Order: sequence, then C-alpha cells, then structure tokens
Amino acid sequence: MRTGLTFSCSAVQASHAILCKFIQNALHFTIHLSPQKPDHIKIYNNFKTQRNVLHTLHSVKNRNLQVLFIHMSLQGKKIILAVTGSIAAYKTPHFVRLLIKAGAEVKVLITDAATHFVSPLSLATVSKHPVLANVSDGATWNNHVELGLWADAMIVAPCSANTLAKLANGICDNLVCAVYLSARCPVFIAPAMDEDMWLHPSTQVNMNKVRSYRNHIIPVAHGELASGLVGEGRMAEPEDMVKHLSRFFSEENKPLKGLKALVTAGPTYERIDPVRFIGNFSSGKMGIAIAEALADKGAQVTLVLGPSREHTYHSLVNTVHVESAHEMYEASTAVFKEADIAVLAAAVADYKPQEQATEKIKKKEGELTLTLTKTQDILASLGKIKQPGQTLIGFALETNNELEHATKKLNEKNADMIVLNSLRDTGAGFGHDTNKITLVRSSSSPIALPLQSKAEAAIAIVDQILELRHAKKTV
Ligand code: CTP
Repeated sequence: MRTGLTFSCSAVQASHAILCKFIQNALHFTIHLSPQKPDHIKIYNNFKTQRNVLHTLHSVKNRNLQVLFIHMSLQGKKIILAVTGSIAAYKTPHFVRLLIKAGAEVKVLITDAATHFVSPLSLATVSKHPVLANVSDGATWNNHVELGLWADAMIVAPCSANTLAKLANGICDNLVCAVYLSARCPVFIAPAMDEDMWLHPSTQVNMNKVRSYRNHIIPVAHGELASGLVGEGRMAEPEDMVKHLSRFFSEENKPLKGLKALVTAGPTYERIDPVRFIGNFSSGKMGIAIAEALADKGAQVTLVLGPSREHTYHSLVNTVHVESAHEMYEASTAVFKEADIAVLAAAVADYKPQEQATEKIKKKEGELTLTLTKTQDILASLGKIKQPGQTLIGFALETNNELEHATKKLNEKNADMIVLNSLRDTGAGFGHDTNKITLVRSSSSPIALPLQSKAEAAIAIVDQILELRHAKKTV
C-alpha cells in the first residue's frame, strides 16, 4: 500500500481506520476484493457516504473496487466551462455534476455549434446558472471581462479544432473567445476531434501555440471516435478532467509553497540625459515566464522588472519596477535576504555613463565621448552573501565558447546553476517566444534542451531548481 495520488490495498487491510487516514491523501483508491472477506460490501457502502468520493466502480467479476476521491482542492473554486462544437459535448452535463460534487461553482458558456450536441437547458439545470451563448442577449451584455475575472479556472471542454484555431490566433467572434482573451486565471484546454483532424499539421501548430501561451492541455485520449474509427482525439473522460483540475489546485502540486523567490527580468536603462539611455533588446519574457512557473509551484515571487512592455497578473507574483542597474541591484539585494530561491534572468547593463546630464545634451560640432563606469554585478554580489539554504541561478548569454564562459560565470559568481543561451541558436535569445537553453551545473554534466516555448523552458528550469534543492537536502 502506498499513499499519494493513487494507492491500493486488500480488503483485509481496508479497515475504517485506514480509510480515514488515507482518505485525505488519495485521489484514486483501489481495493482488491477478497472473496473470503464478504465485508467488502460494507466498505463499498462506507465509501459511498464519504463527501469527497466522486465515483465508485464496483466490479465483483474482477474482484476490484475502485474509488476515485476528489480532493477538497476544488472546494469553493469558481470554474468556467466553455463547451464548443464536438460530439464529446454530450458528456459535459456529467462533467458539470462531478465538478459540483467536488465543491466547485460552475458557470457554462456554449458556442452555437455546441448547442447541436448538448442542450443548454441540461447544462443550466445541472450548473444552476444560466448558460451564456452570446456577448449580448437582447438588451443584456454578458460582461466577458467580469466572467474572466470571476473564475479561478477556465476549461474549454470539448475544445473543437475550430475553437482551438481561434484561441491560437486571437480570433474573437463569440463569447467563449472573448472570455478566454479576458481571463486572468489558468485556462485548461481539452481538445476533442477526429484523429486525422487532430494529427493535421495546422492543428498541431495551433496546439503548440496555445501551449506556449501557458494554457494547460488535458491530453486527448485514444479510443473509439465519432467517425467510427479508433485512434487519438477523444476528449479526456470527465472523471480524468476533474482529476486534472483537482491535482492542479492540490497542495501536492505546490512543492514551493511557503518559499520565497526573487526573479530579475528585462533590460536596464542607464540614463545619459533626460531623453537618452543605454539599454539592450531584452523583452523580459523569459524572466516573467520563470516568475510564473515558480509561482505555479506555490512560491511567493518578487519580480524585479526592468523597463519592459511585458507583465504578469499571477496572484503570487509581486512586480517591483526598476529602471537602472543600480535600482535593480538595490531592490534585488533587499529581497534576496528573505529569499529561498533567486533567478537572475535580467540583462543588466555592465556599464553606465559616469555622468548623467540633467539637461538634454545638445548637438555640437565634432565627436561626443561618453565615459562609462562599471555597474554592480548583482549575481556576483548575491553569490557572495548566499546562505546554504539559498539557491541562486544565473543566466549567460553568449555568442562563442558558450559552455566555457557559462562555467566560468557559474564558478566566479557562486551560482548553483547557469542557464545558458547562445545567440547562435535560431529562435533563442531576446524578444522571441521560444528559447533554446542549456542548464550548466557544477556537479553534473550540462543538460541541453531543445528549442521550446519560453513557458516550457521556464518549467524545465524550475524542475531543475527543485532537483537541486532536493539534492542539497539529501547530501
Ligand atoms: N548580471 C548581473 N549584474 C550585472 C551583469 C550581469 O546580475 N551587472 C547577471 C545576469 O542577470 C546574468 C549573469 O549575471 O544572470 C550573466 O550575465 P551576462 O551579461 O551573460 O554576463 P556578464 O557577467 O555581464 O559578462 P559578459 O557580459 O562579459 O559576458
């Protein structure tokens, strides 16, 4: 028997005490029934009365009792379900019931195409809320911005190939798309379509796009399809989608809960005079993605952000806006004292003008010489005061001898890991939505990752931080 998301035990072991002990921890519980122990019926009935039991599957033939628990993590959660045009829409009233049973409040949006597959009346009845189909109903405007702000999560299920293409490309011709574009909460997408549509390159491109926008994809299942063919493309079963959401909100998915993180991102601007500065092309996208990935794992993040057009609405990320390398240094040093993790992704200016003119420098005959002085190296100075429990990650943007330079920075700046970017890689570096990184650590060989979205690269970096912290604890 093991605890965790799934565990199983024999009916002999499944005493009431064991059930009580594990009922809070398990998502999925299987009891192997023993023919010699007819009291399994008693156990089964006991499960049925538990509040957080979602679904029981009793198979005497296979001598199995499967119990799917719902964590209390969905209790009180506000969920928007967007139903779009796919045959799998017929499963959504059941899905709504499961969510409500798990303690969630559900508001349903529907596209015109979906109304051919499921009745809005059924969905309104099970969700106990009117089902919204249009941006306006007669004289009433369905405030998509308010809906987007109301929700703790939005799930598009089933997500048809057509809606997927709209979500991937920012098309906004119905209420589902308008709410999706307004939503600040995590969005889950459960595609459903025939296998050939699913495997079509355009669908796959759209999938990669929506994934890169930090949406959560609930994988399609393999099985019988509406066309009669058997293959990939079925919408995940409602029970699996509930498990997915439940796991997202569960504490088990938050290994950084209670920890504080500092992330620097973006460029810095070093003023020459009131209208000019020395800066660089960093967009801040990579650092923001890291801040969000850390926050997704439960960390309370302070994002020290240089001048950038990008932003984040993540509820666990507090953004401190700075302009110059010196301001970034001051803000980062103050936050680092309390931080467990620091990721310095900013492209900090190494030099600033020695003098900053208070008036605009006027054009004159001949050349203009600016004298530059060094800025503080934030990563190196944090490396000097780093405590044993702190994890410090730096970046290195290189154009040549990449690994050698990155390793030098790792050692000289006392970092635990350097995320190496090479400007020689297409699709990597400033401004792109993708990145190709290599993770350089002192204890083991570098990990070269493929070109991926910055959101995916951020998740890989955070996973590596978790490993580093785990390894530190176990030595
Ligand atoms: N960094 C910093 N403060 C600076 C310069 C860099 O904190 N004044 C950090 C960056 O945020 C990054 C790492 O140091 O995490 C490496 O930055 P990079 O610009 O690649 O290297 P430098 O140390 O500036 O060296 P060089 O420009 O010569 O490659």
